[in-house]
Amino acid sequence: MKRIGMGIVGAGFVGPHHVDAVRRLGYVDVVAIAGSSEATARKKADALGVSKAYASYEALLDDPDIQVVHNATPNYLHFPVNAAAIAKGKHVVSDKPLAMTAAEAKTLVEQAKKAGIINAVTFNYRGNPLVQQARHLIARGDLGTPTFVHGHYLQDWLLKDTDYSWRLEPDKGGASSALGDIGSHWCDLAQHVSGLTITEVLADITTTIKQRKRPTGSREAFAAAGKDESFELVDIKVEDLASVLVRFDNGAKGAFSVGQVCAGHKNDVVVEVCGSKTSLKWRQEHQNELWFGHRDAPNQILQKDPSLMDAEVRGYAHLPGGHQEAWADAFCNLMRDIYGFIAAGKKPTDAHPPAFATFEDGYRANTIVEAILTSAKNGSVWTPVRY
Ligand SMILES: NC(=O)c1ccc[n+]([C@@H]2O[C@H](COP(=O)([O-])OP(=O)(O)OC[C@H]3O[C@@H](n4cnc5c(N)ncnc54)[C@H](O)[C@@H]3O)[C@@H](O)[C@H]2O)c1
Repeated sequence: MKRIGMGIVGAGFVGPHHVDAVRRLGYVDVVAIAGSSEATARKKADALGVSKAYASYEALLDDPDIQVVHNATPNYLHFPVNAAAIAKGKHVVSDKPLAMTAAEAKTLVEQAKKAGIINAVTFNYRGNPLVQQARHLIARGDLGTPTFVHGHYLQDWLLKDTDYSWRLEPDKGGASSALGDIGSHWCDLAQHVSGLTITEVLADITTTIKQRKRPTGSREAFAAAGKDESFELVDIKVEDLASVLVRFDNGAKGAFSVGQVCAGHKNDVVVEVCGSKTSLKWRQEHQNELWFGHRDAPNQILQKDPSLMDAEVRGYAHLPGGHQEAWADAFCNLMRDIYGFIAAGKKPTDAHPPAFATFEDGYRANTIVEAILTSAKNGSVWTPVRY
């Protein structure tokens, strides 16, 4: 099999998972890492066993050995890095959200289309075997008509006023914090599983912690404050909690909450679809189980087991029943769909495998988040999502 060269810009929390996932495919070479300085890039490259380290993304983009560029930088760099990679004719795997605004995301969709490059966004929950099983069953009609899609994405890593991240600074994270960061995942997942499109939203959004202690030194993503760390007090303008009512294109209703200040919830993504016959629920923190709710029979739990999954989606599970698969395996499934597409020489207009979300999907998530912010700004009114 022809080998594919990959380069990654930004290797903080999630970057190393990109590296790990593509290495597991067996035919991808991690050629280089670009960081914000030569020293940080070199340190990361050494730690991950990557030979080349670049002090800028521009230098990485000039490397002829790299065909696919991964963008795992903070949100404000998504647009410039993605746009520059497209201009160099590289395929791009961007972390979410695709851009800071829907307008920027739309520009990237158009630029990618014009350049004819393969483009992907890491909505990685699509890669979970039982997410694909759920999607398959709903598309086949096993639930009947979906009538209600609900759930949440809750975390607790911003619960204390000493918790801090660039995600809370609008110039680095965007006009939205929790919604852009994890609400975008929920919206993509809910639409992907149900097969429906969110058309209208009504939102109530809150900043529960209005002032936070920003560390004056540097700190790893998601890390708690150190004992002797020094701080400065900053006003927080973006939401850390949100509840949203949604309407879907088939007339189904929905609701979800997003929060990063909810104690005990670590990475608690839940999506439930209630259909006219049966309900189905998937929970990320119990991702090897799929719950089915029945009216006239006992409820059921399907354990992740390739032999119990449908043939069309069985390939997303790689271990027998009882052998748990998890976040990093789902992330690898995503890369398997993306790189399989590239390796097969497919064109961007060809049908994509299901775990492979495109820039178009990233744009749609950006557009939903903007509609949610508009709804809240206008006093929590129903607001159309204008894709
Ligand atoms: N798909 C997921 O589930 C998931 C999970 C976590 C993060 N993310 C996304 O990934 C992105 C990165 O998040 P993170 O948690 O890894 O953040 P992070 O702060 O831990 O890492 C960002 C990295 O980018 C580097 N960087 C900053 N400026 C740079 C520049 N000019 N050139 C090159 N590198 C630069 C930083 O040094 C750091 O190493 C965010 O957009 C986030 O939304 C996605």
